[in-house]
Amino acid sequence: MPIDLAGRSLLTLRDFSEAEIAQLLDCAAQLKAEKRAGVFPQRLAHRNIALIFLKPSARTRAAFAVAAADEGAHLEALLPGDIRFGEKESVRDIARVLGRLFDGIAFRCFGHELLRELAGNAGIPVWNALCDSYHPTQVLADLLTVRENFGEIRGTRIAYVGDGRNNLATSLMIGAARMGLSLRILAPPPLQPAPALVAELLRGASQGAEIAVGSEPGAALPGCDAVYGDVWVSMGEEHLLDERIALLRDYKVTPELMAQTGRADSIYMHCMPALHDLSTEFARQRPEVCEVADEVFEHPQSRVFDQAENRMHTAKAVMVQTLASARAR
Ligand code: CP
Ligand code: NVA
Repeated sequence: MPIDLAGRSLLTLRDFSEAEIAQLLDCAAQLKAEKRAGVFPQRLAHRNIALIFLKPSARTRAAFAVAAADEGAHLEALLPGDIRFGEKESVRDIARVLGRLFDGIAFRCFGHELLRELAGNAGIPVWNALCDSYHPTQVLADLLTVRENFGEIRGTRIAYVGDGRNNLATSLMIGAARMGLSLRILAPPPLQPAPALVAELLRGASQGAEIAVGSEPGAALPGCDAVYGDVWVSMGEEHLLDERIALLRDYKVTPELMAQTGRADSIYMHCMPALHDLSTEFARQRPEVCEVADEVFEHPQSRVFDQAENRMHTAKAVMVQTLASARAR
């Protein structure tokens, strides 16, 4: 029996069970196959989706937009200057207005509290398109990519290298706990996740789930199926760049670091945008900011563009599943 996800918001994967996440991934795989076959059943016809992004976005916004268009929904992007949460009017008032007009909202913001307040008052599904604390729709795409590569998620060994306290690392840890991944967070001590958070996530975790935290590549990398990277400064933290370079310069993912997995078939993953050696003018001028070497990013074992594509299939699954019977409510 499918689980009814209609009307649910996706603020963090903490709110979803293993079975619910598995259902979203199954749906995404089916929608991906349908799109490849040219089948477009227009499951979101006559639905109206708001895209509200208070931070920049290329992939997430495009993923939601293409996914919604594929399924026949109407999209409206509301710019930060149009909606000034808590300045022009209260968040609660805006939420109630949007809830009367739209069927769902993809929302990218800074503090998680704003998402909670929007979702708590809108009465329609709100999907977290990234906030300072979490990035759940990215991790859904990552889990689908892992499943495509290894056939299953449970027991897959992933080393995340970089800022172990950011939104992506936190969401990966939640995904690991829910789906039975073996996750190693490789980060210098000041950027390691709080032990209390790791312990909390592992309480009641799915069978096989592991989260190990350390600063030694020689302990984290051997045997890993995948190495995962993210930028060293997240959006809103640009002023911390020099501090982060000092902390993370030994954690750049190079071919030598990849070789420490001891495997020729390990894949490389990154949520993107990525700074790799020749990627931008900024990266060329200040190569010390790069979290990954070109040889790794461009390597045949890199799966970064599969992840980017899967953003769309998984965003589509989230919208289709959570809006499925909203009209009947
Ligand atoms: N991975 C990701 O969320 O990319 P954008 O910031 O471009 O949306
Ligand atoms: N940690 C990054 C993720 C970008 C997709 C950020 O928040 O900027």
